[in-house]
Amino acid sequence: MQTFLTSAAITQWAEAHRAAGRTVGLVPTMGFLHAGHVSLMTRLRAEVDALAVSIFVNPLQFAPGEDLAVYPRDPEGDAAKCAAAGVDALFVPEDFYPEDFSTSVGVSGLTAGLCGASRPTHFGGVTTVVARLFGVTRCDVACFGEKDFQQLMVIRRMVRDLALPVRIVPGPLVRDADGVALSSRNKYLSAAERERARSLHQALFAIRDAVSSGERSVARLLELGRGHIDCDRLDYLELVDSETLRPAERVDRPARALGAAFYGKTRLIDNVGVGPELSWT
Ligand code: PAF
Repeated sequence: MQTFLTSAAITQWAEAHRAAGRTVGLVPTMGFLHAGHVSLMTRLRAEVDALAVSIFVNPLQFAPGEDLAVYPRDPEGDAAKCAAAGVDALFVPEDFYPEDFSTSVGVSGLTAGLCGASRPTHFGGVTTVVARLFGVTRCDVACFGEKDFQQLMVIRRMVRDLALPVRIVPGPLVRDADGVALSSRNKYLSAAERERARSLHQALFAIRDAVSSGERSVARLLELGRGHIDCDRLDYLELVDSETLRPAERVDRPARALGAAFYGKTRLIDNVGVGPELSWT
């Protein structure tokens, strides 16, 4: 595995592969890697000739007062996990944005609700960094986890709308043994918060199971879910159409139950597919 610290260097690496007719894959991350990230790498490893992972804690996607300054880091552990997963290039940029960087990329509509409602500047930062990552890594394919379902759909829309030559591949959400979705932010939880954090996925599973048992009233499903959640503050619990991310009216189309809840100062998100499976194109 080679490590690249500059955008110019990873571009040169990618160009060399492309010139030789090899496909390039990218797993963008902010580091502090866990089994969820590794599953994305494993997924792409099987599909591309040259696999890159980027590790960059992108300041643009954090609002003032969020956890940018304390975001967990583990450079050595991350490098070891990437090497073990068969990654060819680790991109840890020191110079990611040019000094006079003055472009932003934004997707409207899909970013209005859910996480976008409580973090209004977040997705603009994500789409801007991802667009530039696609540019500097020249990737043909990129993998994003379903854990960040709204992010996945927003990036898919950006790629379609801007006709970017990158195929987006979804990676499944990975859970810990207690059912809590793997997240770098789980590190912030105390033992007591961690225990209560289980109620988030339990609420989502209760909604999914009720749909499987025939419940179709969205109001009743959300009430059922809310009854399961034990948190310090519920940001949202919603049942949305998987494609439009607008509140679901019926569950006869692919739908997603999504929740965001605070445990102490830590905000966790989770989601589960409900009803018919979303077909990915
Ligand atoms: O999901 C993440 O870790 C980040 O939002 C991403 C896609 C790497 C962009 O910074």
